[in-house]
Amino acid sequence: MRTKFTEAFGVEHPIVQGGMMWVGRAELVAAVADSGALGFLTALTQPTPEDLVAEIARTRELTDKPFGVNLTILPSINPPPYAEYRQAIIDSGIGIVETAGSNPVDHLPHLKDAGIKVIHKCTSVRHAVKAEQVGVDAVSIDGFECAGHPGEDDVAGLILIPAAARKLTIPLIASGGIADARGLVAALALGADGVNMGTRFMCTVESPVAHAVKEQIVANTERDTELIFRSLRNTARVATNAVSTEVVDIESRGCEFADIQHLVAGARGRTVFERGDLDAGIWTAGQSQGLIDDIPTVRELVTRMVTEAESIITGRLASTVDSRIGAVS
Ligand SMILES: Cc1cc2nc3c(=O)[nH]c(=O)nc-3n(C[C@H](O)[C@H](O)[C@H](O)COP(=O)(O)O)c2cc1C
Repeated sequence: MRTKFTEAFGVEHPIVQGGMMWVGRAELVAAVADSGALGFLTALTQPTPEDLVAEIARTRELTDKPFGVNLTILPSINPPPYAEYRQAIIDSGIGIVETAGSNPVDHLPHLKDAGIKVIHKCTSVRHAVKAEQVGVDAVSIDGFECAGHPGEDDVAGLILIPAAARKLTIPLIASGGIADARGLVAALALGADGVNMGTRFMCTVESPVAHAVKEQIVANTERDTELIFRSLRNTARVATNAVSTEVVDIESRGCEFADIQHLVAGARGRTVFERGDLDAGIWTAGQSQGLIDDIPTVRELVTRMVTEAESIITGRLASTVDSRIGAVS
């Protein structure tokens, strides 16, 4: 499958594995790269910029194929040293960066001067247009279905993707709620040049999260997510569990961040992924859980998506058109 995105970014398949806190590590990203898709290490999963340099080196030991690094810039009481992480990415010779969280304008000149291609991930058409104006090379747009931060507009991908496609000239990646070949074909039909997946890649053999988490994703349906931080206008879609339902309950009665801080601590979420203790904290997952019913290797997943997408396009869709033409003639 050749698209504007595969051409511009030199990848085989129009499939991206977006940055994932605690999950976007060398094993997964190298497997994604080897499968012909584009994987992103998650910079802030590494405790320091030096650790990120080491993780990039570790990924290169596992694959010869290109991969990128995600830099998520979120509002924070104690912001991480973003400029130092950015420099670590540049010094390591990374060719593609995924920015997310807020406007990448402060980071862009540095990244562009280093010859790095930037995919900016956002959640609204206006932010996508702004990103194109400030010079990013592609936009990834996350619909309301997505895992993580869907923004505050609550516009689902079925509207968001074509609305963005109408306005952009740079490659567009559809993100959120995509987990199989049907999602890939639909995204292309809606005007995207590729797809980005988080939850689906988290539920693969090479994903570095506890097996119990993967089994829970398989067991979960599309209804098993909660929207936390709504009242703080920093919405995050996470898996339903004892902690996320408690947070939603506290928020429904009105609260400040301090009232829920002990529940949502990042370290607790990390424990879920490392130990498989599913109620230890908040863990991120999207509505696409309802489309996931196995734990394949990354290569099996990517090959299956591409093969099935081609057969949907040349089989079911082509025969639908053929039979309509037949009916008319
Ligand atoms: C466990 C997990 C952690 C995530 N962490 C980040 C992150 O740190 N930065 C980011 O830009 N996106 C993050 N995301 C969002 C994904 O990159 C992607 O945009 C999203 O998962 C797409 O929705 P989907 O899960 O329905 O495919 C995360 C997603 C998951 C599942």
